[in-house]
Amino acid sequence: MRSSTNATLACSTEVEHPIIMAVEQVTKHLPLGQERVEILKGISFQVRRGEFVAIVGPSGSGKSTLLGIIAGLDSPSTGRVLIEDLDISHMSESRLARIRNQKIGMVFQAFNLIPTLTAQENVEVPLYVGEHKGSPAARARELLGLVGLSHRAHHRPNQLSGGEQQRVAIARALASDPALIIADEPTGNLDARNGEHILKLILELRERTGKTFIIATHDPVVASQADRAIRIVDGLLGDIDYSQRVITQ
Ligand SMILES: Nc1ncnc2c1ncn2[C@@H]1O[C@H](COP(=O)(O)OP(=O)(O)OP(=O)(O)O)[C@@H](O)[C@H]1O
Ligand SMILES: [Mg+2]
Repeated sequence: MRSSTNATLACSTEVEHPIIMAVEQVTKHLPLGQERVEILKGISFQVRRGEFVAIVGPSGSGKSTLLGIIAGLDSPSTGRVLIEDLDISHMSESRLARIRNQKIGMVFQAFNLIPTLTAQENVEVPLYVGEHKGSPAARARELLGLVGLSHRAHHRPNQLSGGEQQRVAIARALASDPALIIADEPTGNLDARNGEHILKLILELRERTGKTFIIATHDPVVASQADRAIRIVDGLLGDIDYSQRVITQ
């Protein structure tokens, strides 16, 4: 009786929260002079739709390298990455660019906004790539509203605070309505107060949009809010903290 209930629960999780991203035995090595640097040494894990997964680990352990590979900005040396069952590790650059635009939003520590464009225009940029429904301007206005920055729409990045710039970057990441948001130290350049505001925004957006978040962070407050943390140590998966809350809805 008990096991059939468990089976039903497991089954409903699989249907409502299918696997959206899988890394399978991913390695990354780079030549360094005569030597070879082994950055990732065989990493496998899966993320389900709607999860918030924190990637943690010491500086230099391979977090940014792994996120770049998951986002299709870099390719693994061996192994593969599946985004909604599509193997992105062996794709042509043009197809990959389309998949990145449709399925993945990226947020970086240094915000990476285009300095000559306004907040509104920065959010519009992804909507001029590929095909998207509706007007880019209207969508950008909606997203700036969602991140609480309607009143800063015509400011350029150097006219915005760090926290505001990161809000714009988050709005840009959401512009093409991707299922997966990948963020590399999104609070890393912010003071504690602004970092807290960005974390709160991410949690609110997750609640409202049901999107999946994979976030590399050194910030224990950010990691503590995730459904689970994946620890990378020296290019390998370390112990996963199963005391973290797991997805329940
Ligand atoms: N292009 C490169 N050539 C050689 N080594 C590299 C290159 N890029 C990264 N590395 C090395 O790979 C390792 C992992 O780097 P990575 O940036 O992924 O670490 P990280 O976990 O994100 O660190 P941090 O927490 O400081 O951001 C580091 O030792 C780094 O020096
Ligand atoms: Mg890093």
